Amino acid sequence: MSDPLVVVNFKTYQTAHGASAESLALAMANIETGARMIAAVSAIDLSAVVAAAPGLEVWCQHLDPVGFGSNTGWLHPSTAIERGASGTLINHAEHKVSLEHVAMLLEQVPEEFEVCACAADVEEARALAALEPDFVAVEPPELIGGEVSVTSADPEIVSGTAQAVKDVSGAVGILCGAGVKTGSDVSKAIDLGTSGVLLASGVTKSDDPSVALNDLVSLL
Ligand code: G3P
Repeated sequence: MSDPLVVVNFKTYQTAHGASAESLALAMANIETGARMIAAVSAIDLSAVVAAAPGLEVWCQHLDPVGFGSNTGWLHPSTAIERGASGTLINHAEHKVSLEHVAMLLEQVPEEFEVCACAADVEEARALAALEPDFVAVEPPELIGGEVSVTSADPEIVSGTAQAVKDVSGAVGILCGAGVKTGSDVSKAIDLGTSGVLLASGVTKSDDPSVALNDLVSLL
């Protein structure tokens, strides 16, 4: 089995933007683990985070399948790649797009650039898996930012998504997120059939992000 993923979405948390994004990324880079630690950062912080945390995998939180030219404010995948991104989230619950947007993005990015498409439920996960992104991450919107991990609040949606995605394509990895905070949440996510987790507040709202990060990978 390949190394489990721990993707930390910095969102626009105050503790994870600007200079704080650089410190948090450095804390992630310093965690000793066999897991793949990935920071999903604001496009504005991308270059600075890549420079501050060499060796850490850095993803965007969103990209647009646009060409070069007249596209004010849109996020061109090639710019992200040139600035050091190795992947992106897309269709996050807080930044929904059409299936067509996801499909066009997948067509546009190079093979090695990873795309994690987010889904609210099993149905959406199945539809996204058919487009063959690298990962589908299931995150029930009502549990995002909450105190209870999806792995405890709704384990069936995690195992159901894992099964549905595998049925569609063996090439698509599965992540889950919403309320994930501890090593036992991560280990339960793996037991339920995923390759890892996507989380935010468990790290960004922690008093000590390094302690939270070490806990997350403690049972892997
Ligand atoms: O993208 C991760 C996210 O939506 C889950 O957020 O705060 O519940 O870990 P959180």
